Amino acid sequence: MRRTMTTTPIEGQRPGTSGLRKKVTVFQQPSYAENFLQSVFDVVKPSSDATLVIGGDGRFHNRTVIQQAMRMAAGNGYGRVLVGRGGILSTPATSHIIRKYGASGGLVLSASHNPGGPQGDFGIKYNIANGGPAPEAVTEAIYARTVEIDRWYIVDAPDIDLDTLGANQIGDMRIEIIDPVADYADLMEELFDFDAIRAAVAGGLSMSFDAMGAVTGPYATEILENRLGFTKGTVRNGTPLEDFGGHHPDPNPVHAHELYDLMMSPTAPDFGAASDGDGDRNLIIGRGRFVTPSDSLAMLAANAHLAPAYKKGLQGIARSMPTSAAADRVANALDVPCYETPTGWKFFGNLLDAGFVTICGEESAGTGSDHVREKDGLWAVLLWLNILAERRISVNALALDHWKNYGRNYYARHDYEGLEGPAANALMAELENSLPTLAGKSFGPLTVRAADNFAYSDPVDGYKTPEQGVRIFFKDESRAVFRLSGTGTEGATLRMYLERYEPAEGRLDEDTTYMLGELTEAAKTIAAIEKHTKRTSPDVVT
Ligand code: G1P
Ligand code: ZN
Repeated sequence: MRRTMTTTPIEGQRPGTSGLRKKVTVFQQPSYAENFLQSVFDVVKPSSDATLVIGGDGRFHNRTVIQQAMRMAAGNGYGRVLVGRGGILSTPATSHIIRKYGASGGLVLSASHNPGGPQGDFGIKYNIANGGPAPEAVTEAIYARTVEIDRWYIVDAPDIDLDTLGANQIGDMRIEIIDPVADYADLMEELFDFDAIRAAVAGGLSMSFDAMGAVTGPYATEILENRLGFTKGTVRNGTPLEDFGGHHPDPNPVHAHELYDLMMSPTAPDFGAASDGDGDRNLIIGRGRFVTPSDSLAMLAANAHLAPAYKKGLQGIARSMPTSAAADRVANALDVPCYETPTGWKFFGNLLDAGFVTICGEESAGTGSDHVREKDGLWAVLLWLNILAERRISVNALALDHWKNYGRNYYARHDYEGLEGPAANALMAELENSLPTLAGKSFGPLTVRAADNFAYSDPVDGYKTPEQGVRIFFKDESRAVFRLSGTGTEGATLRMYLERYEPAEGRLDEDTTYMLGELTEAAKTIAAIEKHTKRTSPDVVT
């Protein structure tokens, strides 16, 4: 029997860059998750033959919200729910399951790379039938619903056993606990030449994969060790833990420093990789060579035709605005379009659905293709492996070869974390006000060519998304970008993105900090970072 529970709106439930993301303690408030879930269901209006997929990255509070979401899905008339065993489904696997089983949508329960545990973060994101994050029109409608919600629906039922494969029932709704790994691993085997990779492994190719105590452990173990033949122990931190073993599961050289240090040491294997909390991000490091995510996107795009799934070539490439223009140069050479979107994967969905692009990526270590509608950490790792196996080349040699062809976009992101909201807003407001007068001004050796606040018009449906970050272009093809994070949960985070292009005949193998030194100073001055934040240096540089 469906019951109606009365409720009142809770402030601040506007989904950010990737869904609603808050502290676990916020999600534990009475009616907090319920209000948001009901707002989703009120907007998407499921029919009685609709299937809902529920995936989670295994972090603390995952099981609680899954049980609640299943009872509420039953209360809202879904016909079927698919859940990964143990409440586990990586974000890309969730996307695949939605598509493969014709679900009307899915809930992704994760806070991605943010820390887990009782004091950590939690998140809920709704994905639509194409497998991708709901587009802005839908997330705005969900938000509008949260401010007027007055009731939610539930069917009372005991907890479902999440750890046993098979079928269950709540009211009229069927629940299937599915193997979280098998479908995804099969998809990877369709896309890539596993024989070629296996042969390379047999020939001595070695790697280390750090799952960071997060969701990709079981996927990486099955694919890399069981199916591709990498030695046992190739996957480290491979068991998903509620607090990620205390790790900050963000695969960058700072948080994955153990892997980074290994890859820079004399005992490094050929290839190193890591993924984040929910399995959609990737870190790629060759022996002695870190590959920036922006470069990885460009290098994958340039070589994708070597993998079976992409042998016919690419329709186009998309990158988020702050991502470097390295991919644009590849698109240009391939004579395919390159689209520049706001930050967040939801903007790629329309382009992929319309067949405008095949590969997409973000500077924040997300890369993916039209095989799902999320970024996909292991996919990127496997495409790299497929390319290395085909070209019989090291990561370092591939990178140097790429830069000799296209030139190099030196790149860094500086994060100023935990700022006071008003100070961060004042910085952005003052920066925006200064834009009309910046062109022509010089900062050290750099002169501003143009400056704007990035506005996006979706090429498929024309939906407009204004004010997605301040861009400062300099006369020498350098660029600085400023925006506030939409995923942080403590104060405000200012992101400053720095990029400098060095042509193919230029200085290709220099230290990035050195190459970006003058640009960094110019950008800090333009945004008056010290004045507003009282900080002289960033918290994290990636
Ligand atoms: C960050 C990244 C962005 C990514 C998002 C979700 O968002 O910058 O590229 O899509 O996480 O993984 P931000 O905190 O910058 O809004
Ligand atoms: Zn993630």
